[in-house]
Amino acid sequence: MIEVKDLKKHFRTFKKEQGLKASIKSLFHREFVDVKALDGISLDVKQGEIRGFIGPNGAGKSTTIKILSGVLYPTSGYVSVNGFEPWKQREKYVKNIGVVFGQKQQLWLDLPSVDTFHLNKEIYDIPQELFTKNLDYFVKLFDLEDIIRRPARQLSLGEKMKCELIAALLHDPKIVFLDEPTIGLDVLSKEKIRQFIKKVNKDKGITFLLTTHDLDDIENLCQKITIINQGKIIYDDTLQKIKAEIDTKILDVKFSKALKEYKVPEGIKILNKGDMEIKIEVDKKKHKVDEVIGYILKHYAINDINVSNPEIEDIIKKIYSQSK
Ligand SMILES: Nc1ncnc2c1ncn2[C@@H]1O[C@H](COP(=O)(O)OP(=O)(O)OP(=O)(O)O)[C@@H](O)[C@H]1O
Ligand SMILES: [Mg+2]
Repeated sequence: MIEVKDLKKHFRTFKKEQGLKASIKSLFHREFVDVKALDGISLDVKQGEIRGFIGPNGAGKSTTIKILSGVLYPTSGYVSVNGFEPWKQREKYVKNIGVVFGQKQQLWLDLPSVDTFHLNKEIYDIPQELFTKNLDYFVKLFDLEDIIRRPARQLSLGEKMKCELIAALLHDPKIVFLDEPTIGLDVLSKEKIRQFIKKVNKDKGITFLLTTHDLDDIENLCQKITIINQGKIIYDDTLQKIKAEIDTKILDVKFSKALKEYKVPEGIKILNKGDMEIKIEVDKKKHKVDEVIGYILKHYAINDINVSNPEIEDIIKKIYSQSK
């Protein structure tokens, strides 16, 4: 559905020193620098997939989405989305895709969202019957009957985002690009949006490419993730595999009395420590978890031990640092 090979996007910007003198000088002589926003990325997203596309700030996520949705030209590389080259045959292509930028509104703020929906009906040439059917389906799914009749400007961030999603879906696109759709939302709204995406993906088979900084989004929605860092793909596989690759357990130990000093077996990493508690990371390739627990029980008086998996956030941090 989405095929990308060796995609590059370089932005040419110019360097400017501070100060008036430098400003005047730069009028006559500009020193250019090339920013390699995308430095040869490849992607392969299958039909019906919800792909998570994650990476730190400035990694190149939005640039990728802009190229895939045809807003930006690439510097070089091959892109095919549902058989289209996104920046060609624009009018035909946009009927295949939907785009939501969490940081940028597409609703007309002075109009009720339902009016924006009607405008989209004209722009995308949506047949009346399909329009009514889809509007009904999405509005019920989000429970937004009243909200869509109020000027978008008056809506909360979460309500607006739900309307944005509907606006991007009414023309039955095959692929939807979501750039941080849950940014700034509360836990409940985030959860509603996740359920919505899941249901729409299941009911309509729509393919989603989703960027987010919220790893709960990824855990809830995506089987496969692609991690990008400094314009390069550093991981492209299942979430489980990452978790398995980094084969660690986290032990939270609560002592029954305050301890000034304590020891852990050699090679065990201490993540956090206090008088009454310690948090350690056990690399299962080096240690057996039950032996580490045995060691702790033998040497200290314990109130509680909790064994858990590492947070995905920590896993990704590790991958980022390994790729540097
Ligand atoms: N129009 C532009 N001109 C110059 N540089 C740009 C432009 N757009 C993006 N960049 C640069 O390209 C790099 C990638 O930016 P991009 O917006 O794709 O990052 P991102 O992964 O979406 O980050 P974030 O998580 O902060 O949204 C950054 O270094 C950014 O400064
Ligand atoms: Mg971005």
